[in-house]
Amino acid sequence: MTDRDQLITRLGDRDPELLRMLDQHYNIDVTDRLLRVLKYHAERFPGDREVAVLKAPGRVNVIGEHLDYNGLPVFPMAIDYDMTVVLSRRDDRKVVAVNPEFDDREFEISAQIPRFETGDWGNYLKAGVQGIVDEFGGPEKLKGFNGSFLGSVPIGSGLSSSSTLVVASAIAVLESSGIGMPPLELADRMAKAEWYVGTQGGGMDHAASILSEKGKALKIGFFPLSATPVAIPEGYTIVVANSMVVSAKTEASRIRFNLLPAACQIACAMMVKTMGLENEGIERLGDIYFRYGRIETLRGHEKTFTQDRYTRQEVADFLGLSLEETESTFYTARSGEPLPVPEEGLPIAARARHVISEAIRVEESVKVIEAGDGEAFGRRMNGSWISCRDDFGISHPSLEKLVDIAREAGSSGSRLTGAGWGGCTVHLVADHKVDAVLEALMEKYYNGAIREFPAAAERFTQRPQDALLALRPSAGARVLF
Ligand code: GLA
Repeated sequence: MTDRDQLITRLGDRDPELLRMLDQHYNIDVTDRLLRVLKYHAERFPGDREVAVLKAPGRVNVIGEHLDYNGLPVFPMAIDYDMTVVLSRRDDRKVVAVNPEFDDREFEISAQIPRFETGDWGNYLKAGVQGIVDEFGGPEKLKGFNGSFLGSVPIGSGLSSSSTLVVASAIAVLESSGIGMPPLELADRMAKAEWYVGTQGGGMDHAASILSEKGKALKIGFFPLSATPVAIPEGYTIVVANSMVVSAKTEASRIRFNLLPAACQIACAMMVKTMGLENEGIERLGDIYFRYGRIETLRGHEKTFTQDRYTRQEVADFLGLSLEETESTFYTARSGEPLPVPEEGLPIAARARHVISEAIRVEESVKVIEAGDGEAFGRRMNGSWISCRDDFGISHPSLEKLVDIAREAGSSGSRLTGAGWGGCTVHLVADHKVDAVLEALMEKYYNGAIREFPAAAERFTQRPQDALLALRPSAGARVLF
């Protein structure tokens, strides 16, 4: 905890010692952002002189899409856009959260925190706090806080703005309660914590937000969670271009998202059956991949799938289950909500093909990066894009335009990033080509093709600063002051 007014003065004066300290955590100057949220906190909670300031960054996934919940490694990096929080301690168990962009929210920390209405920003706060309650087996050790939240990650863009809120509120409640938690354990806990809001994502976003190191991307493995920092190849910049089409993790697309893990689970069960692995404790496609290797996994895929789509009845027949058993095992969200599967079934074979080929690309990416071969890494990103588009079905015409424009202007590797169906694209660009790629994207997409997507064009007019970002890896979540 630190003295609020002194901190405001020192930041306002650009105190060199503070700037040096911030430089360890960011690649950009964030003093204005910090001042804004500190002053907002002072205005909203004038009596709270002792404060803590924390950051929880967003992430861009460089390669390894939809692998986390399959138990396979991913390769994201934290970005300098984050959820910045100023908090002050309370003696009770109430959380009072304010945000210049949303309505105020208040709730009690209890054993089972009841949800706000679906889609409410406060549910992400509750998710983080509930995760900590679950970690400690109850609310007894925890104290509430007054928190001012200011997000700079563009919302609904596939850069994980939602997870920044979950992680930030968890760290805030730990800080207000004077409790520490090892980062790996916190990241593991947060992956499950976000299921509270009803999306069945994996653990990538939280792990990237919590475990990243400045200047490095992170190879993250799951079950058990592990994180290895790996530098982006020398001489290349990561460029993120936002389609401005709102992406998949938003409320309306929750169900569509949840069908993806469901398809992967079905693929896994079908492969287990043909490969005779029923008694091997296989839970996810990643278990098959790691235990039997890529060749056996590819063979298992080929042997299992004789058609692309499988209806519910076909899945039930294949697995020797009743329709009811199939429904409750695969077509029901953790919240108990039934998943609406189309009549013609799900393209199970293609979904699994993406997962296996993407796992191979991630493995190869780390090797070629270590060998310093940026172009070879770019080729893996291009392969990932095609697989996400054709086998995983998560593309959008706006993303196709962005990828084509960037590749034509000299990007070495271009793909969508995050859940898909909109949001951002990520590009690996040789430093000397960055200007050309940014110019081409501006001219041909933002000043051109975006008009084919009226809602996106309108968002661009309102928030042009969310469109094009040239990024270096940021440090993970931490209490700054
Ligand atoms: C969302 C989920 C992540 C991950 C990505 C796709 O962002 O939250 O866990 O599955 O989609 O890679």
